[in-house]
Amino acid sequence: MVKICCIGAGYVGGPTMAVIALKCPEMQVAVVDISATRIKAWNSDRLPIYEPGLYEIVKECRGRNLFFSTDVEKHILDADIIFVSVNTPTKVTGRGAGKAADLTYWESAARMIAGVSKSDKIVVEKSTVPVKAAATMEKILTHNSKVNFRILSNPEFLAEGTAIKDLLNPDRILIGGKESPEDQKAVRALKDVYAHWVADDKILTTSLWSAELAKLAANAFLAQRISSVNAMSALCEATGADVSEVAHAVGKDTRIGCKFLHAGVGFGGASLQKDILNLVYICECYELAEVANYWKQVIKINDYQKSRFVNRVVSSMFNTVSEKKVAVFGFASKKDTGDTRESPAIDVCQGLLRDNAILSIYDPQATDTQILEDISSRKFSWDHATYLKPVSPMAVNKAVVAQDAYAASLNAHGICILTDWEEFECLDYQRIYDNMQKPAFLFDGRNIVDVEKLRQIGFIVYSIGKPLDVWMKNMPPLWA
Ligand code: UDX
Ligand code: ADP
Repeated sequence: MVKICCIGAGYVGGPTMAVIALKCPEMQVAVVDISATRIKAWNSDRLPIYEPGLYEIVKECRGRNLFFSTDVEKHILDADIIFVSVNTPTKVTGRGAGKAADLTYWESAARMIAGVSKSDKIVVEKSTVPVKAAATMEKILTHNSKVNFRILSNPEFLAEGTAIKDLLNPDRILIGGKESPEDQKAVRALKDVYAHWVADDKILTTSLWSAELAKLAANAFLAQRISSVNAMSALCEATGADVSEVAHAVGKDTRIGCKFLHAGVGFGGASLQKDILNLVYICECYELAEVANYWKQVIKINDYQKSRFVNRVVSSMFNTVSEKKVAVFGFASKKDTGDTRESPAIDVCQGLLRDNAILSIYDPQATDTQILEDISSRKFSWDHATYLKPVSPMAVNKAVVAQDAYAASLNAHGICILTDWEEFECLDYQRIYDNMQKPAFLFDGRNIVDVEKLRQIGFIVYSIGKPLDVWMKNMPPLWA
């Protein structure tokens, strides 16, 4: 029986291993983590992450061939294949701060594997790591152990909110390995795992470095599309064009394609910004300044889009939101996930709090604790490699979490939609309008509401990249 161990029971490790256990019932899959709280949650009815379809799979496989444990050493010792899926955040101190990946957890996992292993193993990088991280892993393993290790890169392309769908029906599986016969044997062994449910032509094999770089490149390309359409949204507002119509027309070109062209308040999530910064750092290390600057611009546009949104809210509301209640609909970085990492909502809420707004925030999945922790967090400036001034505790105290959209918007002057949750599309907006201060403003940061319908109700509506409301068009220069 093939034994698999995955180090790191997070957003990537948990769902990926659940699907492997589901599709490979004859294999034993153990997911280990140093966080006892996380493992306890994986073994409970309330999983630590929200992903549609995940709970059903975990329930079917848990205790059969899927196990969650804090006994990292035991499961490493037993395993034939070890996936390393630990977190690799952006460094906030020392060399490369603000851009380079912090490989502390990665290195400690490598040292643990080296210290514990007594038999040959295939070690698979699943976390997104800088190019040539596999080489670091190999050095740590071979200098600290006599065991024969084969290192593979098998980056994960799942997106949050659709993780199970993406895992069950991936566009491609990428496996990078070295050329030697032993390494190629390891590539085949990993291919055999995926071959249980993925067609052969979708399993791509490349060199180690190509696989590592392909992952960073894929996320950079995705982010670049969003920043491109967001840059276009600013021009649409200035000229009176409609960004949805422009994106639709552009996306109809089969060479461009229609996906990932949805203008919004900016991209968030654990990966896009982190991976681009990583790419920028690698380019700088190889003295490719022009290439580094090209990718930096994608993040600069993302930062611009978030601050542009805040400015629009404040300027529309008579140039001040001080002591005005503003409802925030959605805090997670996208719909169908409770994950708030790098969510644009954090920057928007902090921007409004800096202008002394009173915030009432509602999200269907993000926890109250996480929301309040995020808005009081210190933001690290990737560009200046330093922490920015946090929002003052007095201002942070003006934010509360509401239990639904109706409670959040009661007596509010304005609403900001910051996550594309479907429930925000079909709220009773007449009821919401009736219970708000007038004029009632709605700022749609995700382009999900029916603008005309809301204007008929009486709302002053701003929707990113859409022709501006007469209110905003005719604004006196003092407010604009
Ligand atoms: C991303 C990659 O898509 C995935 O392949 C990789 O493995 C991890 O990083 P994720 O961050 O989970 O996945 O979500 P994604 O769907 O890429 O969305 C990222 C952000 O971009 C979200 O904030 C989303 O709202 C935003 N977005 C996405 C847009 O603003 N417009 C779009 O058209 C698409
Ligand atoms: P991702 O989104 O990449 O899955 P997460 O932060 O959700 O990242 O998950 C990474 C997990 O890895 C965390 O639960 C963390 O506790 C775990 N982890 C980090 N270092 C180690 C280690 N050395 N051994 C076991 N687990 C680890």
